[in-house]
Amino acid sequence: MTSTSRILELSTIISTNTQKIDTYLLVNDLPQPSFQEYGPLKVLPDGSPPELEQARIDAVEASIELQQLLQGPDSLLTPTINSTALTAIHEFKLATKVPLEGFALANNTDLQFYNFLSQYPERAKRFGGVMSSSSTAGLQALLDKFPWSSLPENGLVVDLGGSQGHVSAFLAEAIPSLKFVVQDLPEVISDTESTYRVPEAVANRLVSMEHDFFTLQPLKDVDVVVIRYIFHNWSDEYCIRILRNLIPGLKPGAKILIQDHLMPEPKTLSLAKERDVRAMDMIMLSLFNSREREEDDWKELVAKTDSRFIFESAERQAQDSASGIMVVSWQG
Ligand SMILES: C[S@@+](CC[C@H](N)C(=O)[O-])C[C@H]1O[C@@H](n2cnc3c(N)ncnc32)[C@H](O)[C@@H]1O
Repeated sequence: MTSTSRILELSTIISTNTQKIDTYLLVNDLPQPSFQEYGPLKVLPDGSPPELEQARIDAVEASIELQQLLQGPDSLLTPTINSTALTAIHEFKLATKVPLEGFALANNTDLQFYNFLSQYPERAKRFGGVMSSSSTAGLQALLDKFPWSSLPENGLVVDLGGSQGHVSAFLAEAIPSLKFVVQDLPEVISDTESTYRVPEAVANRLVSMEHDFFTLQPLKDVDVVVIRYIFHNWSDEYCIRILRNLIPGLKPGAKILIQDHLMPEPKTLSLAKERDVRAMDMIMLSLFNSREREEDDWKELVAKTDSRFIFESAERQAQDSASGIMVVSWQG
């Protein structure tokens, strides 16, 4: 009896699952995947049956493995993106000897990323637009995984580095008893041509305010500070400064709600997701001397900041997600 080789097995997985997806698209009159200007953003629209999403993942993963097997070690050991250089930078602590971030080197500037953006309003606008178009799955998790209803009536939520307010607006629509202040850099707050508009329905409970999080928090009696996808592009030293600057504004018992990457154990995600997550970790290192943090890294960061900050929990957004929600309380 002849056993099927791995490459043939993989090609069958690709063919069977691609067939399933193609039939589903045809039967439901959905567009074929493409990179055309008006092509679909996602291959399968939200709400498609989970077995179809699984078929897509299986086909993608088998394609990656087949591609690598057919490339062979000779070509794979000299990839276009070679992490050997990054490993050497880490191993010999080269980054600490060059007081510049990769971003600064690549853009021939001595400015940090956000200071650089502030000099190029078009780029800053594009960046803001990308932030406000981020998936709502993460926003729903932020809503579901924190007991918002336990906060006092008219409780104050500060959305630190909240961009154009899309996160606060989402929360404000769901929780009518709370007030929101979105804080960000002047050029972000004053951008009247921003692509995002806060919905009328919540505009009376949501204000925007210029504030640099490297300066002391000007507001008082804050119940919750939301810090969403801020820390992953700052090294610990900067995150500690951001957290310490909050202290004068916090009510005793206030919560810091961090939504950010929460690195999973290796090999617990699908191959494709794992590649994305590890690539993002390396991008953060090479661009910003930063990193994606594991649960212990988050605990350590909080402990190093101030003993009155108590790390309460870290919960993954969903079982197969590389992001999570960390809750820290202020016991000052
Ligand atoms: C990656 S975006 C995250 C935006 C938003 N929190 C979200 O979840 O979509 C980082 C944000 O931090 C803001 N930011 C950067 N440096 C800042 C500073 N020093 N003070 C206040 N906001 C800052 C940026 O303008 C940007 O809006």
